[in-house]
Amino acid sequence: MSDAAPCTTFTGAMRVLAGLLESRTGQILSENRIWRIETALKPILRANGLTDLEALVSRLLSGIERQLSDDVVNALLNNESSFFRDLQTFEMISRELLPHIQATRPDKVLRVWCAGCSTGQEAYSLAIQFQKNAELWRGWRISILATDISTAAIARAQSGIFSQIDVQRGLAITDLLACFEPVGDDWKINEDLRRMVDFRTDNLLEPKVPGGHYDLILCRNVLLYFSLEMRRKVFDRLAQYSRPGGYLMLGAGETVIGQTDDFLSSREFRGSYERRGGLGEVAEHTIRRAR
Ligand SMILES: C[S@@+](CC[C@H](N)C(=O)[O-])C[C@H]1O[C@@H](n2cnc3c(N)ncnc32)[C@H](O)[C@@H]1O
Repeated sequence: MSDAAPCTTFTGAMRVLAGLLESRTGQILSENRIWRIETALKPILRANGLTDLEALVSRLLSGIERQLSDDVVNALLNNESSFFRDLQTFEMISRELLPHIQATRPDKVLRVWCAGCSTGQEAYSLAIQFQKNAELWRGWRISILATDISTAAIARAQSGIFSQIDVQRGLAITDLLACFEPVGDDWKINEDLRRMVDFRTDNLLEPKVPGGHYDLILCRNVLLYFSLEMRRKVFDRLAQYSRPGGYLMLGAGETVIGQTDDFLSSREFRGSYERRGGLGEVAEHTIRRAR
């Protein structure tokens, strides 16, 4: 769904649908974003021969219609994404953060998790960076796990197919030509890059992804519309999945401050957060104690 805001009254049906979205995903549709419901659900109403949102809600309440409720949740999620979104962040990750992590991993194993990856642009942007720097990563075992609650978004990500508009957003023409091939009016990412990313459907509120200590977690532009309580819950999970000293990247307008003590704002790598217990934190303590 896209943003732009005509005003509308919050009907009972809208409240039920917003409640469904929140209980399943943690995403809150506040009063000033509620207008999105009608626009986003129009195709579902049409496909199911339903006249309005009230009819949709009666149908949802009348029995277990898991597929219909999944479709509704998928349609209400905001899947906005683009390649190399916030380019400076990707440049910092590639030029500063990853070389730093590389220097701390003698086992040459690197695990990255894109949590809330939407249609795949974020994870593929990382994969493209790794492929472009293949020489630096020779001999490394790199895994990129990318998860999203939206089955529709994950299916699109897995296909590796992007529209002309998608590839025009953030992708340099040289990267487009080197990493994609035209398929009809669309572009398909090359098979090596597609295979570098393991896409899975997963809910951040109850993740079933394989545990493990991730070196870098990207959870960008996902928690913006979560309540503070839900955000805290997700940060607890992200902390469990991060290795001590691992890094977390959030979206430009997001922060961990006041929401978790498990991650500390990194002094070295702008916009990133370091999982407590790593060497950075130990060094920081040592400096403070020496003062
Ligand atoms: C705005 S997109 C951001 C995509 C990407 N991280 C980026 O910054 O370009 C937010 C994504 O979070 C996903 N999401 C929302 N709630 C989620 C949850 N509880 N578990 C997993 N993914 C969720 C949505 O489906 C959506 O694809």
